[in-house]
Amino acid sequence: MSVTSEDVSSKDFTSEFLEDGPDHRPDDRQGLQSPRVALVTGASSGIGLAMVQRLLKNPELTTVYAGCRHPESDAVLVELADSDPRVELVRIDVTKTGSLEQAAALMRATGYLDLLVNTAGILHSPAGLQPEKRLKDVNTDDLLLAYDVNALGAMRLAIAMEPLLRKGRRPRFVSLSARVGSISDNRLGGWYAYRASKAALNMLLRTLAIEWARGKPGIVCAALHPGTVATALSEPFTSGYTGTLFSPEQAAQQLLDVILSLDSDDSGGFYAWDGEQIPW
Ligand SMILES: NC(=O)c1ccc[n+]([C@@H]2O[C@H](COP(=O)([O-])OP(=O)(O)OC[C@H]3O[C@@H](n4cnc5c(N)ncnc54)[C@H](OP(=O)(O)O)[C@@H]3O)[C@@H](O)[C@H]2O)c1
Repeated sequence: MSVTSEDVSSKDFTSEFLEDGPDHRPDDRQGLQSPRVALVTGASSGIGLAMVQRLLKNPELTTVYAGCRHPESDAVLVELADSDPRVELVRIDVTKTGSLEQAAALMRATGYLDLLVNTAGILHSPAGLQPEKRLKDVNTDDLLLAYDVNALGAMRLAIAMEPLLRKGRRPRFVSLSARVGSISDNRLGGWYAYRASKAALNMLLRTLAIEWARGKPGIVCAALHPGTVATALSEPFTSGYTGTLFSPEQAAQQLLDVILSLDSDDSGGFYAWDGEQIPW
């Protein structure tokens, strides 16, 4: 187990946020090469943790870097790393460039990265960020916080991890967005900070995909919507929800199916858990 860094040390909106959908997977595109080395951010919780566990089921996987802000004090992650030598814990705060540089330095031991799944994201925070219902709830500090984590976090990761991805096999860089980040699909309003930060994420990923398509090997880059998933992030908003609520394990499986199906023609897209393309 390794940990980077110095010390090593309202229901009003649920109908749109919590959408339903058909239960199908892109089975026709199974069997494509699985990642050997992967990095998952947001690995302490929800979809990120389930993604680490799902990746470990793949016998081709040699290393999964499980990143979050305090991995050394996360009992589940520590136990996972103790029980499977393929799990490497890395301290990653996507708002801190230095933390990502340290993680990349640690990961250079492996030499390459086939897959990066960025699940780090916030909808609400103990510091006070809450999905806003109306303009009077909006404050610019919260807008900046959401943008910092949800949008800039992916860019900092791209900057730090590009050299490792360039050495990967069929390298893929995906970041969890959200359907509410679709501008054309915004019919109910509200959730200013979250919506705008995910829309910004989408634009950054699209731009990155255009640049990365030019390199050799091209790095496939996409924004993914996981569906509505029972996690700490969605929990305050799901009490009256009657649609499909995926478990984190289901979500990880579905997302991995989509991820493995992505090829260069799909790069720069925004896809839901079932592979459906979401309008910008
Ligand atoms: N759940 C849903 O229904 C749903 C729907 C649409 C989109 N999504 C998206 O899916 C992603 C995962 O969400 P989830 O539902 O699994 O939420 P979650 O259980 O709350 O997990 C969020 C993760 O983000 C990490 N994180 C937060 N701030 C961070 C930072 N500054 N640096 C690094 N990591 C940070 C947290 O890790 P630490 O706090 O331990 O560092 C945690 O592991 C998010 O991007 C979310 O927007 C979720």
